[in-house]
Amino acid sequence: MSLSTMNGFESKVDADTMHLTVSEVVSLTCNTKLLRLRSTDGRILPRHEAGAHIEVKVTLPDGRQAWNAYSLIGNPADRSVFEIAIKREETGRGGSRYLHDAVSEGGILEARRPVNGFSLDASATSHLLIAGGIGITPIYSLSSQLSRLKIRHRVIYCVRDMEDAPLLERLKQSAFAEVECHADNGQMQRYYDFENLLRDPVDAQRIYVCGPEPFIRAISRICERQQWNRGTVRSENFGGIRGAPNPKLTVHFAKRNKTIVVEQPETIVDAMVRNGLDPLYGCKRGECGICAVSVMSGAPLHRDMFLSEEEKKSQKYMCTCVSWSASEEITLDM
Ligand code: FES
Repeated sequence: MSLSTMNGFESKVDADTMHLTVSEVVSLTCNTKLLRLRSTDGRILPRHEAGAHIEVKVTLPDGRQAWNAYSLIGNPADRSVFEIAIKREETGRGGSRYLHDAVSEGGILEARRPVNGFSLDASATSHLLIAGGIGITPIYSLSSQLSRLKIRHRVIYCVRDMEDAPLLERLKQSAFAEVECHADNGQMQRYYDFENLLRDPVDAQRIYVCGPEPFIRAISRICERQQWNRGTVRSENFGGIRGAPNPKLTVHFAKRNKTIVVEQPETIVDAMVRNGLDPLYGCKRGECGICAVSVMSGAPLHRDMFLSEEEKKSQKYMCTCVSWSASEEITLDM
């Protein structure tokens, strides 16, 4: 969960799509369902790795169609079935309600092929996995893969209520996963003590985080304060760009004397590629900083893990692969 392409309205860019039959619907908790999806023609499904997601076409209450992203939580070695878990979001746009209410066994869904922006880093010597709420889905996928590889790891799973912790029992079945589930009942004073957990930086450790954007941002800030190496945290956010008042952004490139319009869910980097501007980029997840540029005017909404809090506050730089702008126009020094 690039992350900012998640949960976007129908893209203008054609992508390979698949038609999948819902072969089974399983209730995980009172508001989370697991769907098993198989190809409609019996063919094997596209290859994917742990941490990957697919986008599924949903119909919103106003009749518009959109693509919602869901992590693939089954074993990638089983090419006969995709498994996704969907939490019913009462206050969302309606895509999850559509999948809960209008889709049943035997139904056909349209989906895009798997992509992975949240893969395991095999070079790390230890792995800490942190999930907030339904952010457990890619974390579960990574944990399962580590277990299959017989690699010991730790999982911190934060939920509001213990009764609403999908996949917890499955996680606990692994002998390689040390699982801690923490319920805060929505009370701030009961939030998990990440400050304490992350007080000792370990160079080779990888931290994988998935959950709501404020949850990811809080953990990222702690890592920065505790002087973890940049790039230690990998994250996946399914919430889209929060606080972005404008779905369209006009981007001026001062040195190139060029202007383009970017419309969510497309990112600035992707729009630059589309317009032949040949941008520099690496991870496209806001981690490596290769896409960072100087901002000459505008109000960046930062969503990356690379820039320091000080750099973000200065509003002089932004990572164009994930960040947006609160202003309708922004001018970049490039
Ligand atoms: S490409 Fe890595 S931070 Fe943007």
